[in-house]
This record gives sequence, C-alpha cells and structure tokens, in this order.
Amino acid sequence: MSNTERGSGVPGQVDHYRDPVTQEHRQKSGFDTRAIHAGYDPDPTTGAVIPPIYATSTYKQDGVGGLRGGYEYSRSANPTRTALEGALAALEEGERGFAFASGLAAEDTVLRSLTSPGEHVVVPDDAYGGTFRLFEKVEKRWGLDNTPVAISDLDAVRSAIRPGSTRLVWAETPTNPLLNIADIAALASVAHDAGAMLVVDNTFASPYLQQPLSLGADVVVHSTTKYVGGHSDVVGGAVVVRDLDLAEVIAFHQNAMGGVPGPFDCFLTHRGIKTLGVRMDRHCDNAERVVEFLSSHPKVAHVYYPGLPTHPQHDLARRQMRGFGGMIAFELGSLESARRLLNGVRLLSLAESLGGVETLISHPATMTHASVPAERRTALGITDGLVRISAGLEDLEDLKEDLTQALDGV
Ligand SMILES: Cc1ncc(COP(=O)(O)O)c(C=O)c1O
Repeated sequence: MSNTERGSGVPGQVDHYRDPVTQEHRQKSGFDTRAIHAGYDPDPTTGAVIPPIYATSTYKQDGVGGLRGGYEYSRSANPTRTALEGALAALEEGERGFAFASGLAAEDTVLRSLTSPGEHVVVPDDAYGGTFRLFEKVEKRWGLDNTPVAISDLDAVRSAIRPGSTRLVWAETPTNPLLNIADIAALASVAHDAGAMLVVDNTFASPYLQQPLSLGADVVVHSTTKYVGGHSDVVGGAVVVRDLDLAEVIAFHQNAMGGVPGPFDCFLTHRGIKTLGVRMDRHCDNAERVVEFLSSHPKVAHVYYPGLPTHPQHDLARRQMRGFGGMIAFELGSLESARRLLNGVRLLSLAESLGGVETLISHPATMTHASVPAERRTALGITDGLVRISAGLEDLEDLKEDLTQALDGV
C-alpha cells in the first residue's frame, strides 16, 4: 500500500534518524541533552551535525515499492520533519511526536482523530481564544459539542462529563491569559474514570517546565510557535503521545488531513528546541523579577502569576512545574489605563503571541481573546484593564525601566 494511502504515514527509517544512541538519549539523558541530540545523529555521509533542510516534495524509488528509508511523499514524511518529530517526542517523554503547520492544525487533527460527530468534549472556560473559536465555531458545526468549565475545579469537570459521550477532557495549564493551574494527574484520573482521554495543551509551560504524559495525560499538544520555537520566526504545532495505537490514529490523520509544516519551518522549530532549557530558565527568572516590580507598583491593581504565594494554585504549581513560567497578567483597572500603558512602551513590543526571546505585551480583551464574547470574557476576569506580558530574555533593568516610564503615563 502506498504511504499516502496507508494509515500510518510512518516516518522514514533512515538510520541516523533512528540511531539506538538517540533512543538511549530519549530514555536516559537529561532534558537539555535530549533537546540538543534527540531525533537526529550526525549524517553518516557528511558528518553534518544539524539536520539538512530536505526541500523536496517527493522521493525517487528504487523500483516499484522500493522506498529509500520509507520516504515516499513529503506530506507523509520528510526527513527534516522526522528529526523534529523525534525531538518533540523525546522532550515530552512520549513515544511519537507529530509536527503540524500550526498549533490550531495540531488541535483540529487531535479532535477529529479522537472524536466523532455526536460526541462531547470538556474544555477550559478560559482557553486560548483561538482554541475556543475552534471548538465553538468549527468543531461544533461538525457535530462535536463542548462544555466550558473552570479546568482547575475538579468537581466542575466531573459534573460536565456526559457519561458515554464525553471522549476528551481538554486542559491548558497554565491557562491563557489568567494563568490558572490545573492538576494534571487528578484530571487524568477524572477523565479515565469516565472512559475519556486527557489532552493537555502544554504551550504555556513548555516541556521544560512540565511533562503532562508523565503525569497521566494521554495527549500533549503545543503551539510550537511559542516557547518551543522560541524566536518568533515560525508558526507550528505539535502532538505527542505515548500509546502506540493512539500514535497510529494520529499518524493516519496527520497524513490524511495534511496540516503538516514544510521543511524550512521544521528546521527553525528544531533549532529553537536546542536552547529551550536555558531560555526557559531565563524566561522564568525575568518573569519573577517583573512580577516583583509590578506587585509593588501603585498603579497595578492585581498581578496574576503562579509563582506568587497568593496565587490560588501556587502549591500545585510548585509541585507540578519546574518553574513558574514566563507569562504574567496584571490588572490596571480600565481600558484607558491599559491603552496608555500599551501605547507607552518602547522596548516591549505590543504584539500577539508569546514565548519569543523578546518581551511582548498584549491586551487579551481586544487581541488574543477578541473572539470570546464580551460578557463571558468579563465574567472570567479577562477585563478591559487586563494586560499580558510574555517576559523575554532582555536585561531585567531595561525591562523595568521601560515599564516604569510607560506606567508613569497611566
Ligand atoms: C495556549 C495556546 N494554544 C494554542 C495556540 C494556537 O497556536 P497557533 O497560533 O500556532 O495556531 C495558541 C496561540 O496563541 C496558544 O496560546
């Protein structure tokens, strides 16, 4: 059967992408070693230490069915993507990783792989706006119903489950933009008790700060556009699973639906992965210091950050995460104050997205969460005065100086 028709779309079997040493790295090495080495070993013919960009859509066959290394057509598999997918699996301590053209393409593939029309999903009531839009405006029309709940409230999750029809519990932790923390291990048992699977969007934490599969989740998804890529230069998504039957189902749909990234994008994402650990340490340090600064600023009414002892799930975050992350949200009290701050920053960039080396500042109500109805936004605490910061890697004093001058104008 041809690779484009076969269920699995199994990636190629070129030796240096599947070296036993790589497998050993995956099992035993520390996070940074895996980030740097997993998925690829130096090319045996040239010694190239970095996976080449295979800008090819198809592969010459040695006679009918004679595929070299299993490669047949680049929607099904491409060596640059194979290397990235190996790295993604290793970072999340999963068995198989899958790369997608965007985080939303990854989410859609998971949803339409693992559910059918007429079924139901429990979703976070403060999920990323684009995720909310996907569930509400796309999947619902296709026949997949959803119930939004506070995903950190286990009783609310239990009562939202519809026995027999809930196929997935979907979690984000920390959530975007309010940085609520969900208990992954507890959610996994609630989902499993109901015969459902737990999917965790691990975008905000990154695999460096938490590994949901090790805590019992069945599927991890990412917008690799964020911390995993890390340099604001590529859009991408990922899915990682441990269960090989589940992997087959995802592989089939990745190939059948076709939302895959090109080799240039895979190269950039994989390059970002190599420094994920060191970047995350600095993101966390800078965020903690910016939180200290904002918490004592008279114009800031409230700061949302899981590292604050006053955060409602601080103890859980301490247990579940290696660090508290690079995302901060804070309340300025009014749209006008938020607007003045956002218009006043000079070093910080007013922009969508997060997780890049540069510090970004945004206004969730009119930007990332504009697709959430205003009433619902306000009920959740995503007010007009809420501002979100993705702390980058700049010198802390420069960040504080810019925030000081911009807050002076509020
Ligand atoms: C938590 C989260 N999940 C998923 C996505 C969607 O990813 P992408 O923009 O790569 O499609 C985003 C984008 O901001 C996000 O913040």
